[in-house]
Amino acid sequence: METFLLSLLVPLSTIPPRSLRICLCMSILRALLISKLLSPVVGAGTSNLGVNYGMVADNLPPPNEVAELLKQISVSKTRIYSANSTVLMAFAYSGISVTVGIGNEDVSSLTDLFNAQQWVETNIAQYYPATDISGILVGNEVFSGDDSQLKNDLLPAMQNIYTALKNRGFENDVFVSTPHSQAILSTSFPPSAGAFVPDIASKYLAPMLKFLREIGSPFMVNPYPYFAYKANPQTVSLQYALSASTSLSTASQTVAASSITTSVTDPNTGLIYYNLLDAEVDAVYAALEGLGYSDIKVVVSETGWPSVGDPDEAGATVQNAQAYNSNLIARLERGQGTPAKPDVPLQAFIFAMFNEDLKPGPTSERHYGLFNPDGTPAYDFGLLPTSMSSPVDPYSVYYHMSSCASQLVTLSISLAITSFITNCFLIQCSLLY
Ligand SMILES: *[C@@H]1O[C@H](CO)[C@@H](O)[C@H](O)[C@H]1NC(C)=O
Repeated sequence: METFLLSLLVPLSTIPPRSLRICLCMSILRALLISKLLSPVVGAGTSNLGVNYGMVADNLPPPNEVAELLKQISVSKTRIYSANSTVLMAFAYSGISVTVGIGNEDVSSLTDLFNAQQWVETNIAQYYPATDISGILVGNEVFSGDDSQLKNDLLPAMQNIYTALKNRGFENDVFVSTPHSQAILSTSFPPSAGAFVPDIASKYLAPMLKFLREIGSPFMVNPYPYFAYKANPQTVSLQYALSASTSLSTASQTVAASSITTSVTDPNTGLIYYNLLDAEVDAVYAALEGLGYSDIKVVVSETGWPSVGDPDEAGATVQNAQAYNSNLIARLERGQGTPAKPDVPLQAFIFAMFNEDLKPGPTSERHYGLFNPDGTPAYDFGLLPTSMSSPVDPYSVYYHMSSCASQLVTLSISLAITSFITNCFLIQCSLLY
């Protein structure tokens, strides 16, 4: 859109005597663009909630429809796993911020600063700020893998991406980090005893944490209470894993109907945990503290619960997925911290937007979605507009109607801009000429 406007402006700005007036018009127009007047306002969602937009599927709606869908459930943050230009363009002026991933296969080439600069030009500078790119996640769960070259390359790649952003002046608006698997912890219980695998800590994490602190970036982790439950359904309380236990702040929520309260007390701190997710996040905080980095913020880059699984996958049901994700969303909306960091509101990206049919592995892997590929909700996770949550109301009709409506709004904005340009330049300038 901006390019389109500028291409209109350039020939006009060559009219010589009225350049001052044109400059004024241009700055007004620019101010309008910069103030993001063109961005539709996203509803009352919480800034603590994001949704991972995975695309390992052959049947997903086009990205512009995905942006509409996110707006309808008032989610204003998403994360994509690679810098896909169709997606980045579709999210321009959407009011939705995008965290962009770099696949593990692309990390090593970025140890060359020139390549990193090239990457930032092609994948960030081309779209930003029209597309609100808020962060870059370099690689995914690298330290729990077995590629030692990749592990060595990760920090230099992150540093080069940061330098490339800095050269462009983007470094204060676009953060750089990398998501970790929980497998980098050797101890996670009790939470206060949380510690990283010693080898990973000394070789890779210590220098990385120093860098994250320097650039003010969060430590990103992918905790899945579902995995703990699936591995030990006899010993792990389902209620505790689903964050469905009552606590002071959740007492009035839906789960209060249940009178059973599962809680775990950390013997070292006396802190009481009502859900496994909090315990898992606090174990990471304790591990960071162990290395002297308790000031670095932990952000959940992925968490979720599958709604369908194989017969041997305990807990993968629609009810449990619904309970986990709606409890999580409600909690993020309250801006609640964890017991060890009560003043730091938890931020999390739910995995995932869609059920992804091409994901390998057990059945559960293809059923983490809040939505089915046709855009219908997989279950009610608590953010659906009423028109979407009723199963008798054909969602697709509603969806296509609202999509048309938003296109009409876009069209009228374009018309307004066209008439602004006409007034500003063609009429006023020629009258004064
Ligand atoms: C980018 O996303 C679009 C839409 O989902 C998809 O059709 C296309 O294959 C993707 N491109 C790449 C390079 O993955």
